[in-house]
Amino acid sequence: MNHRFSVAPMMDWTDRHCRAFHRALTQRAQLYTEMVTADAVLHGDRARLLGFSEIEHPVALQLGGADPGKLRTAASIGAQHGYDEINLNVGCPSDRVQSGRFGACLMREPALVADLFAAMQDGAGIVPVTVKCRLGVDEQEPERSLFAFVEAVAAAGCRVFIVHARKAWLDGLSPKENREVPPLDYGLVHALKRARPDLTIVLNGGLRDVQHALAESDGLDGFMLGRAAYQSPATLLGVDPLVFGAPAPAGDAFDAVERHFPYLETNLRAGVPLRAMTRPMLGLFNGVAGGRAWRRMLSENAHRDGAGVELVRAALDRVRAASLGQAERAREQRDRDDQGGPEQGVDRPAPVDAAAC
Ligand SMILES: Cc1cc2nc3c(=O)[nH]c(=O)nc-3n(C[C@H](O)[C@H](O)[C@H](O)COP(=O)(O)O)c2cc1C
Repeated sequence: MNHRFSVAPMMDWTDRHCRAFHRALTQRAQLYTEMVTADAVLHGDRARLLGFSEIEHPVALQLGGADPGKLRTAASIGAQHGYDEINLNVGCPSDRVQSGRFGACLMREPALVADLFAAMQDGAGIVPVTVKCRLGVDEQEPERSLFAFVEAVAAAGCRVFIVHARKAWLDGLSPKENREVPPLDYGLVHALKRARPDLTIVLNGGLRDVQHALAESDGLDGFMLGRAAYQSPATLLGVDPLVFGAPAPAGDAFDAVERHFPYLETNLRAGVPLRAMTRPMLGLFNGVAGGRAWRRMLSENAHRDGAGVELVRAALDRVRAASLGQAERAREQRDRDDQGGPEQGVDRPAPVDAAAC
């Protein structure tokens, strides 16, 4: 288990196809499932809820719940399914979750969370159980609520805390607003690490990309990216080199898509609709030439009958052509500038030092 970098659990987003795609961009990241409630694990369609592909390892199952007996059984089932980690959600602020008295509102009940952790670890056996939490909720003073929470849960044996570095305001804010409005406090997460250097403390919330996250998490044990990883997945290409000093699994975003084709083909043959697999790929070329065409071609056509990998190839070719066209235009512009520029022998401005850019 390595928490130096992980992709956050995100409901409706980090499903198995998303995680498999992220593996084409980083081999080392710890990947998380969407939250699955303990009740769903106990009574639902387990193949659908818990199934994953071998290429996703290391992968963590996130559970939601507040009943020790149910969470023990759900954690045990998760471990039997081969998950590398079981995580408890103490951060989700939605009404539906609050009415079940779990998620972020558990920040008010550290003793109960300690019991939940102990029950889950008992069920999971040797598979580690971790906790993802907030700084506090509503009227709680974060300095007190976070430290009291971590003390109680660590006393039950929990070693890894992933902290979304803002409070959840349960009264009046939507889940989306609760990811944006309450202010971030990275300093408090650093203070927690200084107070408990024996624990693994992972920073989450508002991190824009790998470079920003590395800077903000210096001194901590790792960081977790949520929206940035999903919306701009190309940022994940920096994870293995920058965080782990290892080569990236793909040379660039084009190469990553090429390497993902076998997964797409296998799953298409198994009856998975193309659109379910291309949805997490839509943001791959955000901000580069052809990125809009890529998104549009896939989102407008992947749902059509018989849509297959040819569509993804065609969209990829479109981005390639756009980036070649852009490079060509830049070259022509440079040639024009050179022809109209200073004469040979006349002092030219010094080239800009790449490192200073
Ligand atoms: C669409 C969406 C769904 C989410 N679902 C979950 C979830 O199931 N469990 C959880 O612990 N957090 C969930 N979150 C919160 C993220 O895990 C993360 O804590 C939050 O987005 C802050 O990180 P970020 O600023 O890097 O996105 C969700 C976030 C988003 C955007």
